[in-house]
Amino acid sequence: MRITILLTCLLALALAFAANATGETTVTDGTEMVTAECGKCHGLDRTCAILGNKTPEEWTALITRMGEKKGGFSAEQIALISGYLAEAEPGDPAICE
Ligand code: HEC
Repeated sequence: MRITILLTCLLALALAFAANATGETTVTDGTEMVTAECGKCHGLDRTCAILGNKTPEEWTALITRMGEKKGGFSAEQIALISGYLAEAEPGDPAICE
């Protein structure tokens, strides 16, 4: 009996971990977020054209504005995307090629 309870607990823990891990990949990967979210309505060329030209605050403002066109990005998505783009070099191969 005890063993069954213990195994059930372990299984629940493993499932919680797996769910958390998959959730995180989509949320923490800036490159993936940009290619998935910022190429939906227009090409990434618009974004690539201005890499290196904006302060982190300007990126945050731009991404907030883009999000508003489709019902809003979450604060986490905005932080992640603007953080990535503010660091990216002009012509960043991960999103511009
Ligand atoms: C729901 C559609 C939509 C999504 C999603 C979207 N955009 Fe836009 N974007 C537009 C439209 C429409 C314009 C032109 C009008 C304007 O500038 O507001 C535009 C214009 C732009 C411009 C040129 C204007 C400027 O101020 O430099 C850039 C750069 C840009 N988008 C980047 C992005 C980035 C980065 C993302 C991802 C976070 C994104 N867009 C997601 C619709 C979208």
